[in-house]
Amino acid sequence: METQIIQVSRERPDPSVFRRAGEILKAGGLVAFPTETVYGLGGNALDPAAARRIYAAKGRPCDNPLIVHIADMDDLPAIAGPIPEGACRLAEAFWPGPLTMIFPRKDMVPLETTGGLTSVAVRFPSDEIAQELIRCGGGYVAAPSANTSGRPSPTTAAHVAEDLGGRIDMILDGGPVGIGLESTIIDFTDGTPTILRPGYISPAMAEEILGEVRIDPGLLIEDPAVQPKAPGMKYRHYAPKAEMMIVEGSQEAVTEAIRDKVRRDIETGILSGILASEETAHMYPEGVVRIAGSRLNEEEIAHNLYAVLREFDDSGVQKIYSEAFDTPKMGQAIMNRLLKAAGRHVLKV
Ligand code: TXA
Ligand code: MG
Repeated sequence: METQIIQVSRERPDPSVFRRAGEILKAGGLVAFPTETVYGLGGNALDPAAARRIYAAKGRPCDNPLIVHIADMDDLPAIAGPIPEGACRLAEAFWPGPLTMIFPRKDMVPLETTGGLTSVAVRFPSDEIAQELIRCGGGYVAAPSANTSGRPSPTTAAHVAEDLGGRIDMILDGGPVGIGLESTIIDFTDGTPTILRPGYISPAMAEEILGEVRIDPGLLIEDPAVQPKAPGMKYRHYAPKAEMMIVEGSQEAVTEAIRDKVRRDIETGILSGILASEETAHMYPEGVVRIAGSRLNEEEIAHNLYAVLREFDDSGVQKIYSEAFDTPKMGQAIMNRLLKAAGRHVLKV
């Protein structure tokens, strides 16, 4: 299959492009598109065959449910409910935006889309290109991140083409995304609202609206008996090709430990990479050094993280040492992705 890649302007969107993309979705085809978090791989959320095509294109296990994207609050009650009062307030505060909420599923959503679950994840993205596509595609677009399963999520159209070129109908190229990490997921099906995946909307931001918010114990505890509730969070999802280790401690101890390890690798003929910050990059004279961003700008670190992991894949390094990035607001989301990429391999120094 030939994948059409089409540049889309946010300032002057071409209606004929969205009409064509919408027709592809209505006919059961797949269109990748930008959102404010990462690029999504869209298919008609109400069409079981489209859901199956999404799983096949990504190589994703079909018990890992998809998020249904909407572009109008009035479209929510047909697919999900009852919607608790707290969720309405959260929607008012953060929708459209980088927040996904989980509710009981209505029958209109096929079980193929929800990976067999009786709940459904819903998101109203703020990106105008995403919204226009959803409207033209019939109002309900199922979209996982548009990467091959097991690769870092795509933050540019080029990343999508790298992974899914030839396997999907169309890619709408709206340039690099804004945030760079997937949406925060909050579950409303089980008593106290529970964060199943950390993201740009931090626990403190959600607590301000909801009062009490829990964090899924499966995200915090390293125990195979306590599994994360979001099926996708249990896979080693954001896996770079190289073996990765996170080094945690004071800045001096971390840079010294990484320098030592890289030197020892060189002696044994291993090329290794270092995921550093602007402040520390110059402290590594050897190895393939990549900068996620400045420690004073956590949004920049989140924005660059996946692109840097992909660069390591292409650079042929066999090992990656990453500094820890426990930044104040998005640190939990950044470290959650890094820990998964590293298969929870952490060295404390
Ligand atoms: O920012 C985002 O959310 C992006 C963009 C494209 O919107 N989408 C995204 O989708 O990250 P995906 O499929 O890569 O991740 C969805 C996560 C998975 O971990 C999945 O297991 C979980 O959401 N999920 C979906 N529906 C669920 C449900 N009903 N119950 C629990 N977890 C669910
Ligand atoms: Mg994903």
